Amino acid sequence: MHIVITGSIAFDYLMHFPGNFLDHVKPERIQKLSLSFLVDDMVKQRGGCAPNIAYTLALLGERPVVMATAGEDFPAYRAWLEDHGVDTSSIREIPNVFTASFFVTTDESLNQIASFYTGAMAYAKVLSFHDFETPVDLTIVSPNDPEAMDKYPEECRALGIPYIYDPSQQVVRATAASLRQGVVGADILIVNDYEYELLKDRTGMSASAIRQAVKRAVVVTLGEEGAVIWAGEDREEEIRIPSATPARIADPTGVGDAFRAGFIKGLALGLPWAACGRLGSVAAVYVLETKGPQAHQFTLQTFLTRYQAAFGEDEATEALTAFVV
Ligand SMILES: Nc1ncnc2c1ncn2[C@@H]1O[C@H](COP(=O)(O)OP(=O)(O)OP(=O)(O)O)[C@@H](O)[C@H]1O
Ligand SMILES: [Mg+2]
Repeated sequence: MHIVITGSIAFDYLMHFPGNFLDHVKPERIQKLSLSFLVDDMVKQRGGCAPNIAYTLALLGERPVVMATAGEDFPAYRAWLEDHGVDTSSIREIPNVFTASFFVTTDESLNQIASFYTGAMAYAKVLSFHDFETPVDLTIVSPNDPEAMDKYPEECRALGIPYIYDPSQQVVRATAASLRQGVVGADILIVNDYEYELLKDRTGMSASAIRQAVKRAVVVTLGEEGAVIWAGEDREEEIRIPSATPARIADPTGVGDAFRAGFIKGLALGLPWAACGRLGSVAAVYVLETKGPQAHQFTLQTFLTRYQAAFGEDEATEALTAFVV
């Protein structure tokens, strides 16, 4: 199956300040701010929605193609993705800019100071679905440069490529027109519950208007409450998906992306909605249990065992068993 994953590619620079920012901010001298914090820990993590989704999808046995832009600091990241089964041939490196980078310093009281540098992500709109020589079976439009997020759905509709619209954290800044055009004609819409409320407010579309505008399903994730899927005729059939139980919670970064990967695996296998959702739930807990969105590991066999422990036997276990030797 030719699955194309679009979305941001980013590095996350996570720093820790062994003190409290507020002890260094003098309210009487706030006219000019120039502060430097000596941090005692820094982690550089591979991130971005597209590689996060693709990484887990590759662990699940697919060979997803990432279509995105990265910067001159990307070669080692590319090698990592290739080593893990992701097709990076449609990732374009933009000369003389860095890959999108998120810098965040957290203090002892969990106050944060962060900056996000768009970098090469701003070029995502130069990529096009018209450039694929073989037909694309399924794609996902995940958070990315705003213009790219308008262009990709438009191209998919023109080319008849089924797309999952995943505006997620971009719902906060996207315009009503942009969100509406992404939703209308999407095969599937996926957001978390907070983003779903915001999406309705922003577009002025009711829940039922959104369901009618989407061709196959509306998926809303609910954190530890799992997810809900509306599918069937006019998307009026409601399917509740329980979450799986994590052994521990190390870091929630990237749970949403892992859920999407599991869900897409279910679509690739042609499974019923409930099984797609459960695959998402199991994929998500692996990410919860590790630090970073691409630090988890599993084989199809260990994944299958975990799925069976959580949900028993169903269409998903039957389909996955066929791939486990
Ligand atoms: N505490 C938890 N325990 C078990 N599963 C969880 C937990 N939190 C999240 N999940 C799983 O991850 C899925 C996505 O979670 P959530 O709705 O929080 O996404 P999100 O807000 O988009 O996350 P992200 O921070 O990655 O953007 C849920 O549907 C659920 O399956
Ligand atoms: Mg999310």
